[in-house]
Amino acid sequence: MQKRPASTLDVSKIHTASFVIEEDILRHNLSILKYVKDKTGAKMFQALKTWATWELFPIVREYLDGTEVSSLNEARLGYDEFNHEVHMYAPAYKDEEFADVLKYCSTIIFNSFDQWKKFKPQVHAFEKETGMTRECGLRLNPEYTGKDEHGGLWSPCAPGSRLGIRISEFKQALATDPKALDGISGFHFHIFFDKTFPELKEAIQVVEKNFGSYFAQMKWINLGGGQKISDDDYDVEGLIALINDFKKKHSVDIHMEPGAAIVKYAGALVTSVLDVVYRDDVPYKIAILDMSFNAHMPDFLLAPDMDNPVRDAVITREPDAHKSDNMYQLAGGTCVTGDKLSHYHIFKSPLKPGDKVVIEDGIQYNLVQCTMFNGVQHPSIVLWKDGKAQVIREFTYEDYRARMG
Ligand SMILES: Cc1ncc(COP(=O)(O)O)c(C=O)c1O
Repeated sequence: MQKRPASTLDVSKIHTASFVIEEDILRHNLSILKYVKDKTGAKMFQALKTWATWELFPIVREYLDGTEVSSLNEARLGYDEFNHEVHMYAPAYKDEEFADVLKYCSTIIFNSFDQWKKFKPQVHAFEKETGMTRECGLRLNPEYTGKDEHGGLWSPCAPGSRLGIRISEFKQALATDPKALDGISGFHFHIFFDKTFPELKEAIQVVEKNFGSYFAQMKWINLGGGQKISDDDYDVEGLIALINDFKKKHSVDIHMEPGAAIVKYAGALVTSVLDVVYRDDVPYKIAILDMSFNAHMPDFLLAPDMDNPVRDAVITREPDAHKSDNMYQLAGGTCVTGDKLSHYHIFKSPLKPGDKVVIEDGIQYNLVQCTMFNGVQHPSIVLWKDGKAQVIREFTYEDYRARMG
C-alpha cells in the first residue's frame, strides 16, 4: 500500500482560523477503503458523526457506498447530499420522527428488542404503503473492550454501556419469543475507536462465539467503524482475508462504517497567534490563538491523555524550564479557564503574534461538534487542492445570531 502523502499545505495562503481539508490526503485515505471494498465486496458507509462536510460528499461518493447516520438531521443530509443508501443507528427513536426516519433511511438499526417490537408495525405499514423495502437490524453489544486506553470514554462495551444488546439479554429475548428475529436482516456492532486489525480479529471471534449461531438467518453483518484502516501500518491485507473468510463461512455481506479513517490527517485547524502571555508561576509561555479549544476542538479536551500534534512542534507533558525557551501551552480565546490543551508544545523558534499554528488532524469529531460559544468566530471550512485554497464556507454574525434564538 502507498503511504499517506505528506501535507502540501502552504499556510501563508490560509486565512485563519480555518479547518483545511487536503484533497490529496482525503483521496489517499478513501482509496485504501475502496481497495478493501474491491477485494472483498464489503460495503462501506461514511459515518457522518465523524465528519459531515457535505460539499465534499461527491468526492467520498466516488469511493464509498452511502452514509451511516445517527439522527434525523444526519439522515436527511445523507439522503439529500450523498445518496439514498442511508443506514441509521440510534440508541432510541422518537415517535414523532420515525415516519421521516423511514423516508430517509434504507436501513434502520435498533438498540433493543423493545425498540424493534415497537416500530416493527410502522416499518411494515411503510413498506406496504410505498412498495419500498426497509432493512432492519439489531445492534449487539459483544462485551469486548480490548485494550481500553481511555478509561471507557469511547468504548461502547464498557460496563454499564447503553449501546447494543448484551449476550444474556439476547438469549433471554429469544427464549421468550423464538420469532424475535423475524424481519431482522442484519446485526451491527461497533466496539472501537482508532483500533488496529488484531483487535478487530479478536472482537470478531468473540462475536462469532456468542452470536454466530444466528448469522445464518442474516443478510449482513455490520462491523461498525473505529478501525484505523488508512494508517500506514494497518494490516489491510489481513482485513481483506478476514472479511473474505467471514463471508464464506457465514454467507453474509459485510458492512463497515468508517469515519476517522476517511479524514485522518487529511485536515488541520490552521490558526494564528494573537498574543503570547508570560506567567511567573509556570515554566512555559502561553500562546493565545484565534480559536477556542472548547468551541472548536471539544474532542481534544474530552481526552486529555491523547497527544495533539502541532506542525513543527514537539509534544511534552513535563513542562521543565530547562527543556526549551520555546515551550508553549496553546490556549483558546474564550474566557473559560480550561480553554487550553493539557500538554505543551516545543517550537523551533519563539512564537509571536501573527504566527500561524497548525493543529494537525483536527477535523475528525471536532468540526461536527463546533459551537459559537462566547460568540467566538466559527473557523471557515477550506479545501486545499492543487496548491490553492478554496473556501467552502465562512461563518458570519448572522450564523451566531440564528443559533441564539
Ligand atoms: C455506530 C458507529 N459507527 C461508526 C462510527 C465511526 O467510528 P470512527 O470514526 O472511529 O471510524 C462510530 C463512532 O463513534 C459509531 O458510533
